[in-house]
Amino acid sequence: MRKKVVAGNWKCNTNLQEGIALAKEVNDIVSVDDVVVVLGTPFVHITEVAKTVTNPAVSVSAQNCAAEPKGAFTGEVSAEMIASTGAKYVILGHSERREYYGETSEILNKKLALVLENKLTPIYCCGEPLEIREAGTQNEYVIKQLQETIFTLPVEEFKKLILAYEPIWAIGTGKTATTEQAQEIHKTIRDAIAAKFGQDVADEISILYGGSCNAKNAKELFANPDVDGGLIGGASLKAEDFNAIITSY
Ligand code: 13P
Repeated sequence: MRKKVVAGNWKCNTNLQEGIALAKEVNDIVSVDDVVVVLGTPFVHITEVAKTVTNPAVSVSAQNCAAEPKGAFTGEVSAEMIASTGAKYVILGHSERREYYGETSEILNKKLALVLENKLTPIYCCGEPLEIREAGTQNEYVIKQLQETIFTLPVEEFKKLILAYEPIWAIGTGKTATTEQAQEIHKTIRDAIAAKFGQDVADEISILYGGSCNAKNAKELFANPDVDGGLIGGASLKAEDFNAIITSY
């Protein structure tokens, strides 16, 4: 049975004290044993948040990592550094990283290898911009993103991933994919995984939905057979809202 996962992506929000307070609130409020809860905090917060979190259902994630293992790369944070804090996950390929920081498939492949080498779990993001959705070519677009990156991994490595489908037009816009749109593309992604790695592998991979997922719409989105949870931006910044999403199953 694949895991249900609700991961918060705090993005560039909260100072250290606010971040610790939020992590503590989530730690104390979460009471589930069938959902994996992940807090994607800014780098600066990770060590303290990892110490703050004692709830076995809650883990900590970075939102990015360096494409090089170590060395003269001023300002970068390596996968090994992240692993040494106690964090267990790294969000990779978020559309904001692709768009604003020029992350290409080639760069993402280097990051994926380092994250896996350091025994961290990648939460790998894919998703199309509005013009692609309007042209109706979102399935091809997203599958190409996967073919250029995670589909090049050996099956044993691929099996360790969590995927997140995030339509860019729904991120932070208050616009959500309809339940039919979410199910259709999640199923397309799962079918592509099955064609590449086999149905058994496809059945075990969690595919999260991201894009204005909130306490109101999570239940309907998560009811889809191929939606295994959410990657949550804005609504992960309030413990009560985040917990309402976690308990939406
Ligand atoms: P919002 O939930 O704020 O739309 O952000 C989604 C997202 O980008 C999570 O990674």
